[in-house]
Amino acid sequence: MKKNYYLTIMLLVFPFTLSAQNNSKFTFSNPDAPIEARVKDALSRMTLHEKIKILHAQSKFTSAGVPRLGIRQLNYGDGPHGVRAEVDWNSWNTAGWTNDSIVAFPSLTCLAATWNRDLSSRYGHAVSEEFAFRGKDILLGPGTTIARTPLNGRGFEYMGEDPYLAGEMALPYIIAAQKNGVACCLKHFALNNQETDRFSVNVNVGERALREIYLPAFKKCVQKGGLWTIMGSYNKWNNVYACQNDSLLNKILKQEWGFDGAVVSDWGGATDTWQVALGGLDIEMGTFTNGKTTDSSLGYNTYNLADPFETLIKEGKIPMSVLDDKVSRVLRTIFRTSMNKSKVVGSQCSEEHYATCLKIGEEGIVLLKNEKNILPLKKGTYRNILVVGDNAVRNMSEGGGSSELKTLKDVSPLEGLRAVYGDCVDFARGYYAGRPLYDNVEPLTADSLLFLKNEALEKAKKADLIIFIGGLNKNCRQDCENSDRMSYDLSYGQNDLIGELAKVQKNIIVVTYGGNAFATPWINSVKGMLHCWYLGSMSGEALANIISGKVCPSGKLPIIFAKRLSDYGFAHYGKRAYPGIDKQVYYDEGIFVGYRWFNTKGVKPQFPFGFGLSYTSFKYGKPTLSSKQISSDGTLTISLPVTNTGKVEGKEIVELFISDPVASEERPTKELKDFQKISLKPGETKNVCFTITPEHLQFWSTANHSFIVEPGIFKAYFCSNESDIRATAVFVVR
Ligand code: GLC
Repeated sequence: MKKNYYLTIMLLVFPFTLSAQNNSKFTFSNPDAPIEARVKDALSRMTLHEKIKILHAQSKFTSAGVPRLGIRQLNYGDGPHGVRAEVDWNSWNTAGWTNDSIVAFPSLTCLAATWNRDLSSRYGHAVSEEFAFRGKDILLGPGTTIARTPLNGRGFEYMGEDPYLAGEMALPYIIAAQKNGVACCLKHFALNNQETDRFSVNVNVGERALREIYLPAFKKCVQKGGLWTIMGSYNKWNNVYACQNDSLLNKILKQEWGFDGAVVSDWGGATDTWQVALGGLDIEMGTFTNGKTTDSSLGYNTYNLADPFETLIKEGKIPMSVLDDKVSRVLRTIFRTSMNKSKVVGSQCSEEHYATCLKIGEEGIVLLKNEKNILPLKKGTYRNILVVGDNAVRNMSEGGGSSELKTLKDVSPLEGLRAVYGDCVDFARGYYAGRPLYDNVEPLTADSLLFLKNEALEKAKKADLIIFIGGLNKNCRQDCENSDRMSYDLSYGQNDLIGELAKVQKNIIVVTYGGNAFATPWINSVKGMLHCWYLGSMSGEALANIISGKVCPSGKLPIIFAKRLSDYGFAHYGKRAYPGIDKQVYYDEGIFVGYRWFNTKGVKPQFPFGFGLSYTSFKYGKPTLSSKQISSDGTLTISLPVTNTGKVEGKEIVELFISDPVASEERPTKELKDFQKISLKPGETKNVCFTITPEHLQFWSTANHSFIVEPGIFKAYFCSNESDIRATAVFVVR
């Protein structure tokens, strides 16, 4: 009896021990095996249903692995500036963890404003360590959607209006994050340049604008960064949703660019089984939800890439090769991340991460005005400093939509200033913007706003310096997902308040936060202005270090600041150009986005693209060319000396713009094609060297449907900002 008992047990348990023992022998589970061999081996062992299950969500922020084979699931986390607080398994509620407070890093527009590729790498390294520590495999970011309009609610999550700068500043972040075994999921691909009607708007855009403005940053991150995943956007292109758009995902992304990773839908971005199956989507997330609040009782098996797709495969209506390509891409992502032996354990809220956060904030802050060198503020110069403004005390890491963050530490601007200037600093709120909200609820009554305003004006009478701290915030219709701004003006009566404060005390400095440009009608009434984007956990310290002169400002604008909204290119074409009519938007301004419109049409901005002042000054010397002419596929180098002619150490960003004045298609007056950021001590000179390649010269030919370089005379402009040309060089392309 006993013998039979043990024999039965053996027979029951044996297959599992076999699979468990063999498991260590499977190629796919060998972390040292080449990834493609692991993919091939895993694919050969998976059942049809197991293949289907890894193509879609199994919860709000995970997609399945293959438990039977010991293939791990994928864990996703928002947002590009830090790891979002844990969300419930199957609802949008936060899970209420007590150990998921993290470092909020500066917004990506702030990173772009540093024009510092090394800092982008440090950013990607640090933020991916926090993602890894929280057990995430896919970081849902960064974002390189181009800033076409300053009203886009998510502008703060992106890297400005220029495709070259956006691509250059996203690339090191991605490379560093993926080196830690955390996949980046670059977003939103593509043409998601507004939040108004984001789930339904169809973008009509010309071929040149698509290729020269909206795609290049994504292409660079795929081809030079080896991007592992990319997020399809909600909007349509050519009347097909981007998450299931064959032209965009199969023809351009996968076939033309050679993308070998997985396309992840935005949450709720997949809508049609056939289009999803054949349109290039690989992982379907968040279907039947609006990506923010609504949930669905429908099971994950009802997703397009679940039972409906399995049925089409079983019926032979879609070939197994289509399924296997998707599965291979998901397996490749798993072996690159959750089953990558080199994936770091990571860390959370480390000194190094806070130091990186501070550094990026300091280098991203842009000094826009400094009349009579009112800045830096030497301690003791002013005895009664009045800080006014809601953003002086507001936590600007909360709100804004899916990029919202729960921070362990968040130094407010007021705290930062008080840490340096002590009890010289008094505070009056001046205006109140309420809690970060998704619905557009007025935060305060007129009476209470008036009280705050009068209190500030009263206190201003006793101050010998005012620092106004305002701008945008993460409320709905400010810098917030799922809504665009309704106006180019600052909200909450800030413009009037600044104007009235300036009448009381002429020593006034305005500090603004926000991811977009805005009108500055008071600019001639104030002596100084700094724009800070969003600075994350070390906000107050970064600001105080710049204001006090501990750090010399070196940030420059990645977006142009127009005097008025109507000066922007899109604004010349009416509602059809933005926000569209009947869910159809037409990018009628074509390639003339941002400064490209202003410099070609001769419109003067309030602050030019690439503008930023310093506490020191720089002189550019004469350029030296390696040759006066090159072939259309050749290269040439141009170098020029740059000297710090001031009294303090500082960093200068040398911006190279190229002009192709005679071409077969209209081109902007000049376009950014390279930049270098250098640090110089007083009196120090360094040689800055650029290599001109065909990529610097090409444009998209609508005749050839490809990039071409046409022979002719080209001009290189070495600029401190787009409008401030410090040196030029002419060369001929034969
Ligand atoms: C949101 C956003 C996307 C985010 C995702 C998950 O709707 O558009 O950027 O990563 O859903 O929260």
